[in-house]
Amino acid sequence: MTERLRSAQWYTGQDRNAYHHRAWMRRGVPADAFAGRPQIAIADTASDLTPCNAHLAEVALSVRDGVYEAGGIPLHLPVVSLGENQMRPTAMLWRNMAAMAAEEMLRANPVDGVVLLGGCDKTIPSLLMAASSVDLPAVVVPGGPMLTGTWRGRPLGCGTDVWRLSEDLRAGVISAEDYAQSESAMIRSRGHCNTMGTASTMALVAEALGMVIPGVAGTPAPDSRLLQAAHASGRLAVEMVGADRRPGTVMTKGSFHNAIITLAAIGGSTNAVVHLLAIAGRLGIDLTLDDFDRIGSRVPALVDLQPAGRFLMEDFHRAGGLRAVLHQVRDLLDDEALTVTGRPLVDHLDDAPVFDNEVIRTRCRPLLAEGGIAVLRGNLAPDGAVIKPAAASRHLLRHRGRAVVFDSIEDFHARIDDPRLDVDADCVLVLRGCGPKGYPGMPEVSNMPLPKKLLERGVRDMVRVCDGRMSGTAYGTVVLHVAPEAAAGGPLALVRTGDMIRLDVPERRLDLEVSEDDLARRTPSQATIAAFAAPARGWQRLYIDHVLQADTGADLDFLTGSSGPHVHRDPH
Ligand code: FES
Repeated sequence: MTERLRSAQWYTGQDRNAYHHRAWMRRGVPADAFAGRPQIAIADTASDLTPCNAHLAEVALSVRDGVYEAGGIPLHLPVVSLGENQMRPTAMLWRNMAAMAAEEMLRANPVDGVVLLGGCDKTIPSLLMAASSVDLPAVVVPGGPMLTGTWRGRPLGCGTDVWRLSEDLRAGVISAEDYAQSESAMIRSRGHCNTMGTASTMALVAEALGMVIPGVAGTPAPDSRLLQAAHASGRLAVEMVGADRRPGTVMTKGSFHNAIITLAAIGGSTNAVVHLLAIAGRLGIDLTLDDFDRIGSRVPALVDLQPAGRFLMEDFHRAGGLRAVLHQVRDLLDDEALTVTGRPLVDHLDDAPVFDNEVIRTRCRPLLAEGGIAVLRGNLAPDGAVIKPAAASRHLLRHRGRAVVFDSIEDFHARIDDPRLDVDADCVLVLRGCGPKGYPGMPEVSNMPLPKKLLERGVRDMVRVCDGRMSGTAYGTVVLHVAPEAAAGGPLALVRTGDMIRLDVPERRLDLEVSEDDLARRTPSQATIAAFAAPARGWQRLYIDHVLQADTGADLDFLTGSSGPHVHRDPH
C-alpha cells in the first residue's frame, strides 16, 4: 500500500526532507511506522471550554486502539473547538474558521485518513465541512448526548427547559430559589444537550449522510458502547484508506436526500438547514433551500422528543435510535447512497425494531403527519426564510399582525418588558441585525422572550420574525434565517412598527403589507444603520466581508468547494 499512501510523499526516500519528516516523528512509534502503515489523524474537539466535548479525550484513546489494531498509526490532532454556551457573541461566528483550520491542518500534515470527534452544535458541521474540502477518508464519531437529569421528580431537557423555566420565572410561576436550584440538576453527565437540539440533530444527520458507522449516533456519552464504536471507527478509518473511500465518494446528492428525510422524521433542528447547505457547498453538490421543503415537508415526524415533544435522547437510544426511525421511512430513502462502511445506508436498516413506540412512533401512528421544515418566501424574505411547523403553535401558522420592530438584541432587551410597549398577543415581533453579517455570526436569538406583561396574562407564543437562528432546543412560532438579512440590504431593514405582516405557512408566504412604491421610498432608520455598522478587525472583518447568506449555508465565499488533499511543496 506504501506507494498509494499520501503520507508516503513525506516519509518515503532517503533525501533530507524524508529524513526530517521521519526523524521528528520517531517518538515511541513502532519501527515500521513509515513502511506503508496508514497515518490516521484523530481530529479531536475536546476542550474544557466545550463541556459537551470534554470527554472526547477518552473517546480518542479508544479510536487510537482501533487504529493500531488495524495496522495504522494514530495521530492525535487537537482542532478548534466551539462551546455553544460559552462563546460570545455566538459560536456560529467561528464555525467557518474551525472548518478552515481543520481543513488546512489535515492537508498540511502527513495523514492518510481521519477520525472526526465532535459533539456540541458546531463541531460536527465544521469537521464535516473540513473533511469535505480536503477529501481524505473520514469517519465521524459523535460524542453522544448526556443522560437525563431530573429536578423535583421531573426530567429536565437541557436547553428546552432552560427556556421554559426562565419564562416561568418571568411569569411568576416559579420562585427565584426554585430557578437557582434547578441549575445544578440541568446537566447530569458528560455529553451534549439531550434534547433533539442541534447537537443531537447533527449527529443523527451525519449518520444519515453516511459519515458515521450506522447505529452509533445517539449513543449516550457515558454508555460503554460509545467507546466500542470509537474503537470500531479507528479500525474502519484504516480500511477506508485502503479502499480510498472519501467524503466525496460517500456523500452524494442522494445522501443529502436521506439527511433531509431524517431531519423531518426526527423533528430535528432548523440549524441543520444552514449546516447541510454549507457541507453540500464544500462538496459541490447542488442542494438548495427549496430541497428541504420539497423533500422533507411531507415526511411524517416520528420522534417524540423535546423541544417539540416529551422525551429525551436517552429514551431515543433505548427506543431503538436512528436505525429504528429510518426503518420506518425506508421506502423514502435513496437506496444507493453509501456509508463509511462502503455499503448503502438502507442495507443497514434490517432488524431495526422500535422498542418503545411512544418515543419513536411507527409510520401508521406518527407524531405529526407532516414534519419537516417549511421554506417561506414573500416580499419580506425574497431569498427565503424557514419555520419549523412542529415547534410552532397551530393557531398561529396562518396569522396577520402588527409589527413591533427591534433594531438589535440590545434594543429588544431594553424595551420588551417596558409596560408602555404597545404590544398585544396578535402582534408580530420583528428582530433584525442578527444575520451572518449583522450580528455578526447569526446567533440563536430569534426565539425572542415574550413581553412580561403578556406572559403574565398567560400568552405563551407569538409570531416572531428574525434574520438570525434559533437554538435547536427552542420552540415557538418563529420565522428564522430571513434572507437577505437586514444588514445585507434585505427588506427586513425597511419594516416599521405598525406595519402589517402576514404569515401563511400552508401557502409558504411571509409578506409585509406595504406597497412596493412605499417600500422603495423607505430607507433604513439611523438606528438600524448604526446597529449594523459594527467596527471589526481580524477574523470578524474577514467574516463580515465574505460570509454568504443563510439560504446558501453562511459559509465564506472563498471556502465553498474543495481543494483536495494535495500539497506539492516541501518546507525545506
Ligand atoms: Fe453543547 Fe447544547 S451546549 S450541545
